[in-house]
Amino acid sequence: MNPALFEAALKRITRLFGEDATGHDVHHTLRVYRMAMRIAESEGADRELVGLAAMLHDADDPKLFGGGDGLPNARAFMEEQGISPAQAEAICMIIGEVSFSKNGAKRPSTLEGLVVQDADRLDAIGAIGIARTFAFGGNRGQALHDPDRDTGTSIAHFHEKLLKLKNLMNTDEARRIAEERHRYMEAFLAEFHAEWNGIR
Ligand code: ADP
Ligand code: NI
Repeated sequence: MNPALFEAALKRITRLFGEDATGHDVHHTLRVYRMAMRIAESEGADRELVGLAAMLHDADDPKLFGGGDGLPNARAFMEEQGISPAQAEAICMIIGEVSFSKNGAKRPSTLEGLVVQDADRLDAIGAIGIARTFAFGGNRGQALHDPDRDTGTSIAHFHEKLLKLKNLMNTDEARRIAEERHRYMEAFLAEFHAEWNGIR
């Protein structure tokens, strides 16, 4: 992706995210960007669309910036940068379609959307995914685990969402990466429960 545009986007999201501790820091976005570019390469997706959509994919996250579907932060940035209205529209469509919470299991309608969604989902699993889950849970004040509850704890979140993501990957490259990260999470959960139950 164009280096000047990348730098401008980085500056903007750094300002927007500030000191957020819910897992939507600038580093999440940069990991998603790098992963999306890697998957775009192997899938032959449009790298400009994927790059900019990845950089802006959480710039209007309702958990940080309140409601509204208009993506005002992403749109304002692209207008300032002289992105054409058609290109901006395509990027907003990608961003709108990648969100798990908004779209459930619905698949994005473009290759670029599929790629960015995979990159975003990959960042929710594996070692980083584990760390983000407990950071999110701590920020919310929820328990690590409660053997009597299958919702509302960080361990419950693995079963509610994270362990399902492997089978929801859109691209072959993401599926390969997800397999490994999935195994790592299963090993973590086995160890967690063994320690919890005093077996190890
Ligand atoms: P994104 O928008 O990047 O897909 P989310 O906003 O859904 O991610 O969540 C941010 C991070 O917090 C992710 O790693 C996600 O797995 C984690 N998370 C979301 N909901 C919960 C929850 N109820 N308990 C623990 N972790 C959560
Ligand atoms: Ni994200």
